Amino acid sequence: MPQTNTPRLLLLPGDGIGPEVIGQVKRVAAWLAEHADLQLDIEERPFGGTSYDLYGTPLSDEARDLALSSQAVLMGAVGGPQWDAVPRDKRPEAGLLGLRKAMDAFANLRPALCFEALADASTLKREIVAGLDIMIVRELTSGVYFGDKGIDNNTPSGEKRGFDLQVYTQSEIERVARVAFELARSRRNKVTSAEKSNVMDSGLFWRQVVTALHARDYPDVQLEHMLADNAAMQLVKNPKQFDVIVTDNLFGDILSDEASMLTGSIGLLPSAALSTAGRPGLYEPVHGSAPDIAGKGLANPLAAILSFGMALRWSLGRPDLDQRLYAAVTAALDKGVRTGDLGGRNTTSEMGDAVLAAL
Ligand code: NAD
Ligand code: IPM
Ligand code: MN
Repeated sequence: MPQTNTPRLLLLPGDGIGPEVIGQVKRVAAWLAEHADLQLDIEERPFGGTSYDLYGTPLSDEARDLALSSQAVLMGAVGGPQWDAVPRDKRPEAGLLGLRKAMDAFANLRPALCFEALADASTLKREIVAGLDIMIVRELTSGVYFGDKGIDNNTPSGEKRGFDLQVYTQSEIERVARVAFELARSRRNKVTSAEKSNVMDSGLFWRQVVTALHARDYPDVQLEHMLADNAAMQLVKNPKQFDVIVTDNLFGDILSDEASMLTGSIGLLPSAALSTAGRPGLYEPVHGSAPDIAGKGLANPLAAILSFGMALRWSLGRPDLDQRLYAAVTAALDKGVRTGDLGGRNTTSEMGDAVLAAL
């Protein structure tokens, strides 16, 4: 029996390549438990489509309650074409959105770092990406993802229409902007806030709230506002101009996938979704279930391993082990180990082997 004060990590491997990449995290966690005094009570539950097939719901009450009483939750990935016909509220992605909401995991930290050994793996030129270190802070529990939505006949002409409403309250914007300003203070002290204030009232409101918060509490941090479409362009033109980018749920989803290619592959990008102090964090690779390569042992496990590192840092009280993991990942890449997404031929478990060897 684990001692009551042993922190609990809940693993939700999910679908597609999720179980494959989480499998490598388990090996790393076992090594750290044996050799680095990591005390962790690890639980695991079905999630997403896998949970739907077993229980008829992508997020069981039991898994949700266990998540809420854990210190950290680490997810693999959810989704896949086999669940395309499932009603929206039962789809794997609905389970993920429900978990984010239940955990109130509003501040999604998506760092994009270019490992030196991979500066030539990006589709962009080496000099554009070498040394890149940016942090996207994506609002994760509101906006168009959670506004009123539907497909209906409710138009004067009787024509069908589809809609998703973008809504942000002042406190929702303030709390995520606060996270961005605080992070910037420990980095290069610059925040870029991205929205579409030129066409969206919710975007104009976002800009006003961020501006007022900055003037009130963070005048020492450099603040820049940028239209989200320009931010997308600037990210590939000159990504090193950015330090912290704060943006809404939808723009953050898109900009973080774009940023992943600055680092070489989406198979490298970890994330942390944080709530208010004292509540558990939700950790997930930025990538999806990659149905095209699932079950073949080809997935890059580094995004999952680095997400575990973020959990060690932000929720499990072991930032030293995050640092060690990061160094081990760097060493594995320096040795030339490459999964297919990085242009190589190594398998998922060979990448795991290389990280363990470096540890
Ligand atoms: P995806 O991220 O799954 O795949 C995009 C491309 O990147 C594919 O070619 C895939 O093979 C490759 N890729 C992704 N992760 C990789 C890894 N670790 N190693 C090597 N290659 C990798 O995005 P998609 O194809 O648009 O979505 C597939 C499914 O995943 C959908 O059902 C979607 O809703 C879901 N999804 C889930 C999450 C999540 O669980 N957090 C995130 C994004 C997409
Ligand atoms: C992500 C994913 C999710 C999102 C999906 C699977 C719900 O794309 O985490 O980036 O859109 O937030
Ligand atoms: Mn996404």
